[in-house]
Amino acid sequence: MPTTSVNGTDLHYVDAGSGPSAVLLLHAFPLHSGMWARQVEALSKHHRVIAPDYRGLGRSGTPPQASTMALLAEDVRALLAHLRVERVAVAGLSMGGYLSFEVWRQAPGLVRGLALCDTKAGADTAEGAAGREAFAKNALEHGLGWVADQMVPKLLKPQPDPAAVKAVRHLIADGTPAGVAAAQRGMAVRPDSFATLATVSVPTLVVVGEEDTLTPPAEAEKLAAGVKGARLVKIPGAGHLPNLENPGPFTEALAGFFAGLPA
Ligand code: MLT
Repeated sequence: MPTTSVNGTDLHYVDAGSGPSAVLLLHAFPLHSGMWARQVEALSKHHRVIAPDYRGLGRSGTPPQASTMALLAEDVRALLAHLRVERVAVAGLSMGGYLSFEVWRQAPGLVRGLALCDTKAGADTAEGAAGREAFAKNALEHGLGWVADQMVPKLLKPQPDPAAVKAVRHLIADGTPAGVAAAQRGMAVRPDSFATLATVSVPTLVVVGEEDTLTPPAEAEKLAAGVKGARLVKIPGAGHLPNLENPGPFTEALAGFFAGLPA
């Protein structure tokens, strides 16, 4: 997988498949583009699929103090410009969804469709933001093993498949404590996106794992209600990461949505 220098950082990314229709996959916290392996394999048969690692996660470059959604959206836009991609369908899962809202705000003309997966539109409460700061400090002090211990039970369904636990722990281990801290600090200051939902004028799909406790189906219903014409798909047998826990129906939902979009 290639790495390129854009927007003052090194971005590592997947670029698979070819064709006139491009798809951008934006990963969850504290994982990296590798979480999309099953989707890249399926979608790249019909589309060019691009999936970056955010700064400090996976194999991308050193993060700043806070990886704000504004900065990460600039990184993504610079990467797409570098790859000469002018229009893209965006799928973002959780933090990737927060980032998708920002990509839409910065460059609506770039986006030809939005798949908002296991994410939510609201900003953090003061308590939520304080919790992220505490998490950031603990990640820096105790490292990625501690991060995995905290996150795995939240990311997966209550009785997770051991293979999914192993896969998620591996994805987390590929990051850096500084990248985890920066992502938490960036998410803590993300803006509320409810007003943004009403501005979305491209086809939109909302997807959620039925057993997601981090961004539960009720949040997905609010998202879908906020975007004109949005369709909601619930994935059974999956928590916050239906792309990993039940990849068949999840990938099918994305593939069907992308197939129906104009290039
Ligand atoms: C994620 O899965 O990206 C995060 O759990 C989102 C968050 O912490 O709000």
